[in-house]
Amino acid sequence: MKEISKKLTSLAQLDIDAFFGYEEAIKEVDDPTIRDQLTRFREDHRRHVDELSKAIASFGDTPPEFSPDFKGFITAGFTAIRSQTGTMGALMALKSNEELSNKTYSEAISWDMPVDVKSIVEKNYGDEQRHLKYIQDRLETLTTVSR
Ligand SMILES: [Fe+2]
Ligand SMILES: [Fe+2]
Repeated sequence: MKEISKKLTSLAQLDIDAFFGYEEAIKEVDDPTIRDQLTRFREDHRRHVDELSKAIASFGDTPPEFSPDFKGFITAGFTAIRSQTGTMGALMALKSNEELSNKTYSEAISWDMPVDVKSIVEKNYGDEQRHLKYIQDRLETLTTVSR
């Protein structure tokens, strides 16, 4: 497998884990507005996986399977969700997942890659920043309200 495909595979795996993390977290959220927004974010991650997978295939390599990597960071998210339920617990778990996504994508944008692939990675990074900002804002609001 080419070096670039390996790197894109690690990104795609992160997005697959994010998808399943959202899937779990959404079940805990009772606020319909927040649930709808998180569902849109979950679908962003599905699109990220699709686009990265197409890029990997275009290099003649095999994209990762769309199943959660339980050895990955998601374990922390699931543990957090299980130990603290409800909207707050879900948002806290997703926040730590998004922090890792943002850190990883912030590094990925400087990888040496073809322009079309770079633009996918940059666009995805923009989504990740938007996801994290929304979650931070919601947590802030919920914390203020319950004070
Ligand atoms: Fe993503
Ligand atoms: Fe995200």
